[in-house]
Amino acid sequence: MVAFNLGAAVLFASALGRGAQAAIVRGVNLGGWLVTEPWMTPSLFKATDTEDEWHLCNELGKDKCRETLEDHWSTFYTRDDLVAIKRAGLTSVRIPLGYWAVDLLDYEPYVSGQYPYLVRAVQWANDLGLHVFLDIHGAPGSQNGWEETGLVGPVDFTANQTNADRTIKVLRNLTEEFSKDHYGGVVTNIELLNEPLLSMDDLKLFYTPAAQVVNVTGINVTIHDGFYNPHSWANYDPNDESITANTTGNTEYDQDKRTWFRKLFEAQNAAFTPYGAGQSSIGWYFWSWKLEYDIDAWSYRRGLSDGYIPSNISDPSTYEFPIKDNGCIDTDHAYQAKATATFSTYSASATSDGSESSSGSGSGSSSDSGSGGDSSSASTTDSSSSSSTSTPGSGAASFSGKNNALSGLVYLAVAPLAFFSFFL
Ligand SMILES: *[C@@H]1O[C@H](CO)[C@@H](O)[C@H](O)[C@H]1NC(C)=O
Ligand SMILES: *[C@@H]1O[C@H](CO)[C@@H](O)[C@H](O)[C@H]1NC(C)=O
Ligand SMILES: *[C@@H]1O[C@H](CO)[C@@H](O)[C@H](O)[C@H]1NC(C)=O
Ligand SMILES: *[C@@H]1O[C@H](CO)[C@@H](O)[C@H](O)[C@H]1NC(C)=O
Ligand SMILES: *[C@@H]1O[C@H](CO)[C@@H](O)[C@H](O)[C@H]1NC(C)=O
Ligand SMILES: *[C@@H]1O[C@H](CO)[C@@H](O)[C@H](O)[C@H]1NC(C)=O
Repeated sequence: MVAFNLGAAVLFASALGRGAQAAIVRGVNLGGWLVTEPWMTPSLFKATDTEDEWHLCNELGKDKCRETLEDHWSTFYTRDDLVAIKRAGLTSVRIPLGYWAVDLLDYEPYVSGQYPYLVRAVQWANDLGLHVFLDIHGAPGSQNGWEETGLVGPVDFTANQTNADRTIKVLRNLTEEFSKDHYGGVVTNIELLNEPLLSMDDLKLFYTPAAQVVNVTGINVTIHDGFYNPHSWANYDPNDESITANTTGNTEYDQDKRTWFRKLFEAQNAAFTPYGAGQSSIGWYFWSWKLEYDIDAWSYRRGLSDGYIPSNISDPSTYEFPIKDNGCIDTDHAYQAKATATFSTYSASATSDGSESSSGSGSGSSSDSGSGGDSSSASTTDSSSSSSTSTPGSGAASFSGKNNALSGLVYLAVAPLAFFSFFL
């Protein structure tokens, strides 16, 4: 379920086709924040028997839900996280948003109040020199029926025109708001709809008017490919048995696991990073910066702390694997992770009220302790849900207001396991 849900990628336009070398996007998602997902923050859902935000709020009632979520919004991502993101050499954050942050009807159990936190995060990004990519993660009726949209169940987005109209209203709000001068142009992209499971025809019917709303100078319209894109994981072979993960061990002391993750991470980084003129890719976004329990391979900061993500992704001298002329890593390069993970600078634990306790905020390199990620984390989470068949990367295309030509792609929301049909 988890791996299936999040195996996502996006492609969008860059200036590459026009001769200029665009800055490479090395981004991370602020996942599980303004749209919650039980597998990412189980403590929020613990007191209820619910599997999405709609039903969580329905069960708690508006007042209690607002109180619970306000607490989460104000603590789960803080300025310190963005500082750590910047320090890790990342260049951009993607912030998923549900429609109900902007357009909530009385009968819907959701609560709103996310917007001030979004505004604050954009301002932090502006201060710190990070770009921001906004996306509609949850649309009315749900565009894929998964928990990430806030509502598990049937795909009812196309049940009526109202759902599309409401989504467009939200897109108009985001566009008008974040093209205001005082945000410093830091919001570079707005994605119309995340991971839609719709027919091509329905998608196009929505994309055309929606793109017109976002298409203003400065913000690039970004569309998800709805899983139709044939792009697949080109530079790595998950069926190569010599590199199959051993799923029986899952502690931070598992050297083989960390060796494998490092190779996988660097292979993806190399695959999705442009390596020469005429490349279509301009970068990637990893899902996610963190989770309440930093589940292996889904948490960027855990990768930093356990040493399987390079400490400064913008600095290739921190990579382990050489990159060959064809842009792929040299898989023959001998690399073995350190016997113990000693990189940790934060404690990947969460207090029972869901607020995060962290010291050092997961800056990867300069370690001052060996406290390790929370080794109990993986077993307390949803990681037992079985993996589905592998989801190849999907994509989205983006268009600038001035140039409607698609000339590049960015893989988005890439988590290492998302592309493989195994789960730890
Ligand atoms: C990361 O590497 C880039 C490129 O070398 C450099 O400009 C930046 O200062 C580095 N960041 C940190 C926190 O060391
Ligand atoms: C449109 O569809 C949604 C989701 O199925 C439903 O909740 C809503 O009541 C419908 N609205 C109208 C106006 O039919
Ligand atoms: C967008 O919606 C938010 C939340 O309702 C509101 O505070 C903000 O003023 C709106 N911005 C624009 C430009 O409409
Ligand atoms: C939008 O895309 C164009 C290429 O189509 C690129 O030149 C421009 O830098 C992008 N804008 C932003 C704000 O990223
Ligand atoms: C997987 O790891 C466990 C624990 O280290 C070990 O006992 C087992 O033999 C390994 N299995 C394979 C197939 O390598
Ligand atoms: C954006 O606007 C420009 C100028 O009005 C237009 O040529 C282009 O087709 C629009 N792009 C999209 C994606 O709607």
